[in-house]
Amino acid sequence: MSRIEINELCVSFGRNPVLKNISLSIPDRQIICIIGPSGCGKTTLLKSLNRLLDLNEDVSITGDVRVDGQSIYQSRLDVTALRKKVGFLPQRPYPLPMSIYDNVAFGPRIHGLDGLNALSGGKAGSPAAGAKTSRKDKDRLVEHYLTLAGLWDEVKDRLSEPAAKLSIGQQQRLALARVLSIEPEVILADEATSALDPISARLVENQFRLLKKDYTIILVTHILRQARRLGDYIVFLYMGDLVEHKPAAEFFGDPSDEKTKAYVNGDIS
Ligand SMILES: Nc1ncnc2c1ncn2[C@@H]1O[C@H](COP(=O)(O)OP(=O)(O)OP(=O)(O)O)[C@@H](O)[C@H]1O
Ligand SMILES: [Mg+2]
Repeated sequence: MSRIEINELCVSFGRNPVLKNISLSIPDRQIICIIGPSGCGKTTLLKSLNRLLDLNEDVSITGDVRVDGQSIYQSRLDVTALRKKVGFLPQRPYPLPMSIYDNVAFGPRIHGLDGLNALSGGKAGSPAAGAKTSRKDKDRLVEHYLTLAGLWDEVKDRLSEPAAKLSIGQQQRLALARVLSIEPEVILADEATSALDPISARLVENQFRLLKKDYTIILVTHILRQARRLGDYIVFLYMGDLVEHKPAAEFFGDPSDEKTKAYVNGDIS
């Protein structure tokens, strides 16, 4: 299982420091909620974990993030392999302009997994990786990931329809199925339920709860109630500083920093 260690991470956009000296060890196989007011650096911290900040021209990054002991900011890093291990679920779903079935089948195909690692019991390094997959195997894969994402029952009779026909809540679970189809160990999710109606949001939350036994799920949310419902471990940022981080029961029951107390009580937002 991937271990993520953040060490003295500083991120600036131009001359604007956005994350200030963040050091943090992320617990495995839990739901970690990153919370804090708008603009405090939550998305930036999340994106720093799989090198998505690289897409910005004026970003400067110092310090280090280690995944499984390996520094992800070293120049020789295989970024594709990192992003396979650390998947990203964005705020809004962007289904590919193809069928529901192909949206899910596309992930294993482009990542060359094809060999049903998940179904054969193993994950990385399965001997089946790269092997040719029959249609029947592919069908099983698609069913497997749609089931993990909590969508299978709703779409099993309409797999060949365009994904764009799904509701936004269903599309977000399809996006989750696609993330799962690359067989990540860590799932990064940025406000993954904020575009959804309350019922769809609960469905996605429920899947996260089921998935955490096998995955580390790092969830950015500005909804305190969601962090209380879902989080096992809470990371609180305020204006680029890491103010407090600890297990959820302790964080909400016994916050030690004055800013945390004010935020948890709703005095600052
Ligand atoms: N690409 C960028 N270029 C310049 N500044 C940026 C960029 N992305 C973010 N910032 C700045 O970095 C700071 C932190 O932004 P970030 O998106 O991480 O905040 P956030 O906590 O996710 O906020 P929100 O809750 O509103 O999503 C903000 O001041 C923002 O304006
Ligand atoms: Mg954000």
